[in-house]
Parts: sequence; structure tokens; C-alpha cells
Amino acid sequence: MPHLQITPSILNADFAALGAEVARIGSADWVHVDVMDNHFVPNLTFGATMVEALARSTDLPLDAHLMIEDPDSHAPAYVEAGCGSVTFHVEAARAPVRLAREIRAKGARASMALRPATPVEPYEDLLPELDMLLLMTVEPGFGGQKFLDLVLPKIRRARALVDKHGLETWIQVDGGVSLETIERCAEAGADVFVAGSAVYSADDPDRMVGELRARAAKGWRGPAD
Ligand code: DX5
Ligand code: ZN
Repeated sequence: MPHLQITPSILNADFAALGAEVARIGSADWVHVDVMDNHFVPNLTFGATMVEALARSTDLPLDAHLMIEDPDSHAPAYVEAGCGSVTFHVEAARAPVRLAREIRAKGARASMALRPATPVEPYEDLLPELDMLLLMTVEPGFGGQKFLDLVLPKIRRARALVDKHGLETWIQVDGGVSLETIERCAEAGADVFVAGSAVYSADDPDRMVGELRARAAKGWRGPAD
């Protein structure tokens, strides 16, 4: 698995043809599936049944991003649906440590997401429980929003915490990631990049995956792949 990973989001793909849409991004590292419940965010997408069907339709691993209330109850179903990584929002979780452990115990990578205004410092001691930390670079809910540069210092602080503890925790960014913004995310210390509209509005989505990967590598200051 390469160190810098590109994870296209299918949020802005054609929902009536998701199997075919995922087949257009064969060189991606993961497929990012945005689960929204109309409560945690003002938008509604799909649930575990749909995600399970998608998992059956592709060899790429699925990266579920749960923008839902009560992830403590619902997240395990996404491991059972076949996701290789499951991300819950700390703002919605009642018991993030218990939930991360449950996700790992069921066999997926456990990941926790922070909205743009949620600080990372209170969660320093939780980092060993996490395989990935998702730092949202837009307010969650919709694709196609403008990248929030104000999150860059938090990415730097998160990278410093991960390195200070000698952890392997991946740092994912999600929202407004494009050829224009990915280099500064990587420079700040992110190593996993979600890109929705940048990939699916491209004429050749798979080629865009490669271009994003190359652009990220230009900014990355960490160990080489
Ligand atoms: C937004 C979602 C993102 C979204 C990103 O709440 O979590 O994954 O699909 O879309 P872009 O890359 O267009 O900002
Ligand atoms: Zn997402």
C-alpha cells in the first residue's frame, strides 16, 4: 500500500450507476462512501444495505465516512457490510474509545472524524486507538464546497502528535481537495486524500487520481513511499 493514498468519494458520482462509476477509478486506493442521515448533516444518502451491494461490486476496499447520529449503534453494520475502514464523527459518538475498539475487533480499520471547528488536542491520548484520523476541510454534508484553509494548522498539529507518539495513524483530509489544494494538505502532513468532485467532474477520473497522487507527492515531506 503506498504511503500517499487517493480515496475518491462517490458522493458526486451517478447514484443510479454506482458499480460503473467505481469501475472508472481502478487506480484508487479506496472508495470513500459518504453515509448521511439528514440529522448529523442536512443531507441524506444511503445506508448499510447499499454499501454492502457496492462492496460486492468492486475489488477496491471501501472507506465508510459515517455522518450520522448515534454511530455507536450503527457503525458496526458497516464493518459487516464489507468496509475495510469505518470512520465515525467524534461529535456524534457517545463512547469513541469503545466504538473504535469494536470496529477494530470486528476486523476493520477504526477512524475518527473531526469537523473543522473541533480541536484535535483533546484526543491526543485516543490516537493509539485509531488507524486513521479524518480532518474535515469543509463542513460535512455536501460535495463541491470550497476548501477551508483554516484547517491547515490543525493538520500540522495532528501530524506532530502522531509523530511524537511514534504512531502509524493515517491523517485523512476530506472536502475541497483538488489539484489546487492537495499539495498544501500533504505539506501540512496529511497522507490520505478524499476527493469527490475533483475526480468525478474530470473527463478521465482515473487519470485525475494519478494526477492528484503526483501533486500530493510534491508537497509531502515525510518518508518516501
Ligand atoms: C462532504 C463529504 C465528502 C465529499 C467531498 O461532507 O464528506 O466526502 O464527497 O466532496 P468534494 O471533494 O467535492 O469536496
Ligand atoms: Zn466524506
